[in-house]
Amino acid sequence: MKGVILAGGEGTRLRPLTLVTNKHLLPVFDRPMIIHPLETLKSIGANDICIITGGEYMADFMRFLGSGSDLGVNLTYKIQDGALGIAHALLQTENFSNNGKIITILGDNIFEWVSIPPEAFTDDNAYIFLKEMKKPQRFGVPVFDSSGNILKIEEKPAQPKSNFAVTGLYIYPADVFDFIKTLKPSGRGELEITDVNNWYLKQGRLKAIKVDGFWSDSGTLDSLLRATLLRALQKGSPSIGFLDKAETIKNLTDSI
Ligand code: G1P
Repeated sequence: MKGVILAGGEGTRLRPLTLVTNKHLLPVFDRPMIIHPLETLKSIGANDICIITGGEYMADFMRFLGSGSDLGVNLTYKIQDGALGIAHALLQTENFSNNGKIITILGDNIFEWVSIPPEAFTDDNAYIFLKEMKKPQRFGVPVFDSSGNILKIEEKPAQPKSNFAVTGLYIYPADVFDFIKTLKPSGRGELEITDVNNWYLKQGRLKAIKVDGFWSDSGTLDSLLRATLLRALQKGSPSIGFLDKAETIKNLTDSI
């Protein structure tokens, strides 16, 4: 399976840290951030991985990850010119995808684990992964009807209509690229992945799966701290050994 890690963007919410290096090379406890989504892809069988980032720090990614052989994956690198959004970054992988389904993960997303039904890798549907949280307004948020079907997804709504966030893991069929080419930039000047998901939804081709393990992005100072603590708990760091693991994970997840 082919996977893509989107590691572009300017990381403005993490300044001044991102004046030193790319967001995805900053540490999440014991490892640079990008290793976490890379291992998530590997865990679901996507070993042929394309990393997309802006040109500025490409050499640092290559120095760190190399061909991927030490990590048991095969890496390809592609440059995204300009910070024009997640859907624009994904578009750079059209040739890499080779007309198959493509598993896409945002480089700042930390999953404890994900479980994916086998048909997701072969059918004609797009898949998104939802995590329940108290305050999802920083994310894509699904709106449900009374039977629990998704009506639409709203990007960063001021008043979220559900308690779910759309995480940064997506599986798309090969026609995703043709649709992205028709997209216009949003108010924040980006080609929005939420527009892509709403397009599949309108066609009745969007499947949503709930994530059971912990999940955090790490694109803000606060979420980077949370992701670091979750990883440290998972690794059994002695310096926070006084914290109850289950209770702390619940508190950290409830705090957002
Ligand atoms: C992006 C997506 C958003 C999604 C989030 C997950 O947000 O636009 O829909 O919920 O990733 O991490 P951004 O990181 O651009 O704020």
